[in-house]
Amino acid sequence: MKKEFLIRGGKIVCEEGVKEWDILIADEKIVQIGPHLSDKGVDEVISAEGYYLLPGGIDAHTHMSLPFKNDSSCDDFSSGTKAALFGGTTTIIDFANQTRGESLQKAVDHWQKLAEQKSYCDYSFHISVTDVNKKSIDELPQMINQGITSFKTFMAYPNMRLHEKEFRTLFKEIKKLKGLLTVHAENGEEIEKRVSLCIKKGQTHPRFHPLCRSIDQEEMAVAQIIMWAKEEGCPLYIVHMTSPKAVEMVYKAQQEGHTIYGESCPQYFLLDDHFYHQEDFNKAGNYILSPPLRSKEVVENLWPYLSEGKGISVLATDHCTFSQKQREKHGQGKFWQLPNGLGGVEHRLELFFSEGVMRRRLTLEHFVHLTATNPAKIFGLYPQKGVLKVGADADIVLWNPQKKHTLSSSTHHSQCDYSPYEGLVVQGKAEKVWLRGELIINGDQFLATKPNGKRLKRTTLFNH
Ligand code: URP
Ligand code: ZN
Ligand code: ZN
Repeated sequence: MKKEFLIRGGKIVCEEGVKEWDILIADEKIVQIGPHLSDKGVDEVISAEGYYLLPGGIDAHTHMSLPFKNDSSCDDFSSGTKAALFGGTTTIIDFANQTRGESLQKAVDHWQKLAEQKSYCDYSFHISVTDVNKKSIDELPQMINQGITSFKTFMAYPNMRLHEKEFRTLFKEIKKLKGLLTVHAENGEEIEKRVSLCIKKGQTHPRFHPLCRSIDQEEMAVAQIIMWAKEEGCPLYIVHMTSPKAVEMVYKAQQEGHTIYGESCPQYFLLDDHFYHQEDFNKAGNYILSPPLRSKEVVENLWPYLSEGKGISVLATDHCTFSQKQREKHGQGKFWQLPNGLGGVEHRLELFFSEGVMRRRLTLEHFVHLTATNPAKIFGLYPQKGVLKVGADADIVLWNPQKKHTLSSSTHHSQCDYSPYEGLVVQGKAEKVWLRGELIINGDQFLATKPNGKRLKRTTLFNH
């Protein structure tokens, strides 16, 4: 029997704007949306008065169970997606990383094993291509056929980064397939030189990490990759951008008519580089990620790009948690040995609603575009995901715009033993979250009895 329920009286953030409409859900889908819908024959009516209704968030950049040496990041698909749902995110796109010398398919199969029967929310993968050779090029269509339509590349990290010829080859091949190339844009050569110098000089404290990965080297990399994308006439998506100047480059390229997207993450808007200056190695080391946190001034200069809709199309998290314990074990007092990454999958909506919508000039509609609709469109999930409209999956967040709460490792759902946002008070909270019509979050309760997340098949029908 089809279960039907009606959500009545909320302010729905949809393509028509913010509307005081009702939503009718049958099984997994939104079947009607509009003013004063009839509740005749429905199984349940839920009042949403005083709340917003948002499409379930899409976090297009997470790393669950990311391998590091003989270890892996401490959130797996189970704890990480549980945390995501508590924060109103119903879909994640994680990364299947190719190991050099091995096939793309092997990477997908490996990550599929990590995710299946563990993921509580829906998921997909980008595939990280680290070995550009005939075999992996030949595998690209097979990836697209499996619904993996975006390909991640690195300009940094010695065992992952590609060079110009490989980038150009990938641009050409991916363009033929109507896929999307995404890139971690930092200048690997520059970084490696600077780290070697630190090693030589015995500069071991985490405060040297942001000096090795300074903003100018990120800008060099962004300028370089935009140039190659333009020359190859190929769409491009740049992940975790921190630099206002680099975002300006993306914006300019967009103005010229190129399909280039910028992504950024909450840590680059809410945190800054003062964390690296804590004397305690371990405390400072907890903020090691790449690119690193930037100065207060840079953070201030980045905000207008977001609120004015220039250059940044997607807000993701780059959720990648290594506990303090793991960091101590691997770091051994040397910043370059620390695993990289920060958590945030649970807090993305809260942080941008609180700081962006409530305190700065981010409109509610734009907030929804950045956190749900744009990633759905760019990564081939629209209109199944990222939007509240008839026919879409009933991934719905009942959002309390008033509720204040304090972020802390003692209350978050990540397995990480610290929170980079410890003590921060945010306004706005997901009170109820439905995934394909199933109520998963109800206040503090987690209602899923088993991991029901589905692997999503993404299309190449992007909006490029
Ligand atoms: O420091 C980070 N961002 N770690 C995760 C991997 C990546 O570079 O995105
Ligand atoms: Zn990266
Ligand atoms: Zn990442």
